[in-house]
Parts: sequence; structure tokens; C-alpha cells
Amino acid sequence: MVFRPTRMNRPLIIAIDGPAGSGKTTTARLLAQRLGYTYIDTGAMYRALTLAALDYGVPITDDALAALLERISIELRHTPAGQRTYLDGRDVTERIRSADVTALVSQVSSFPSVRRSMIRLQRELGRNGGVVMDGRDIGTAVFPDADVKIFMTADLKTRAVRRLEELRAADPTLTVDDVVEQLDQRDAFDSSRQYNPLRRADDAIVVDTTNLTVEEQVERILGIIRDRTGTLSNDPSYERHY
Ligand code: DC
Repeated sequence: MVFRPTRMNRPLIIAIDGPAGSGKTTTARLLAQRLGYTYIDTGAMYRALTLAALDYGVPITDDALAALLERISIELRHTPAGQRTYLDGRDVTERIRSADVTALVSQVSSFPSVRRSMIRLQRELGRNGGVVMDGRDIGTAVFPDADVKIFMTADLKTRAVRRLEELRAADPTLTVDDVVEQLDQRDAFDSSRQYNPLRRADDAIVVDTTNLTVEEQVERILGIIRDRTGTLSNDPSYERHY
């Protein structure tokens, strides 16, 4: 049974931020399923814009990318098999994870007009609550008043091992050290950019996932939601876990 927590009759906004490979995407998706909420992967939106810039040969500048974002349509569709990302009506779920996109996405997402437009879109998507939204600036910039803010971390080596499993299918020659280097560079870039850098909101709760399974991560966050909002106490499935 799915329990849909509310606060003052409004479904909650749950913000999950953290560096690449910290477990955000998998955990946020499962958490949304447990709560009967919509999962919104904001990284996929920046990735779709990056793919559009590559496909359409648009220069990587603030003005050009902001104008491109006005022209294209980025959609997150929810199917029984999970979230699918569409760019101008085409399913690009797999392509946005390619090495080309990953190498460029931090740069694309660092520009102020791009961020302003994305934040506007993301606020619109979460306006009515009932969302688990993951990214880098959800608790700090997109929804600074989110009902619950989580900051997920894990040590760099652990994150690299997790990412390597996903990336090996496309490139069997990749090593853990390659991925450590890529993640380290992307985190440094995302954390040091001028506009809405990756940063823990002061009121976000840190969940270190280094030694947690995915199921434990979900349970831990459900517990935090309960403590923060008191809204899960009459969830029958909840009693079994705590
Ligand atoms: O979560 P991800 O690895 O798919 O995110 C890809 C990039 O998008 C990440 O390196 C930084 C950027 N991003 C961002 O700047 N703000 C967000 N809310 C989400 C992602």
C-alpha cells in the first residue's frame, strides 16, 4: 500500500541534493514510489539541454543556451518502467548518460540564465507538492522552503565504484581510477561555480550512504520524513519498518 503524506492537506516537497554517485537518483526514485509521489530528476533536465546543444551545434555560452532552452521541449515522463526523458518528443533517456554529455553538463549548468530558467521550470513542476526532487541546489535555490531536505554523501571511492558499474556497459575499459578522477572534477566544478553551487542547505540532514544499501537509504529517509513532519505515523507499512 502506498501512503501519501501531507502537511496541512498539502503533499510534501522533498529535496535531495548531493554529489554525483551519492545514491540520489536510485534512492529518490524508490522513495517517491513508497510515498506515491512524483520523482523529478533535475540532473536529467540539465543533461537533456546539454544533449540538445551537442545535437543542434549550439555554442556553449550563456545567451545561446538560454535561447536554446526556450526553443526546445524537455519532458520527464513517468512510466511503469521508471522516468523517461524526452527531448523534442524523442526518448533520450539513454543518450543523456553518454560520456559526451557527462563531460559537458557541468559547464552547461554553470551559466546564470540557464540556471534561472531551469529553476523556474523546476518550481513549476513541484508547485503542488507530492514530489521528490533530486539535484544539486534543490534545498538551497529551487525550494528553499522544502518540507524535508536531505543531503546525500558517500566517500569518493564508493561513489566511483557505483558509477563504474553503470558505465562499464558502454565502455568496458574504464577503471575505478578513471571514474574517481571524473567524479572529483565534476564535484569540484559543481561546488565552486558562482551560481547555485552544490552545497548543503543549513537545514538539510546529511545521509552518508557509504555503508548503506539502497533499501537502508530509503528507510533512513522515510524515518527523517517522519521525524520532521510527523506525517508517517499512521502509515501501516511504516510500522513494520520502525
Ligand atoms: O545528477 P546528474 O549527475 O545527472 O547531474 C548532471 C549535472 O547537472 C551535474 O554535474 C550538475 C548539474 N546539475 C545542477 O547543476 N543542478 C541540479 N539541480 C542538477 C544537476
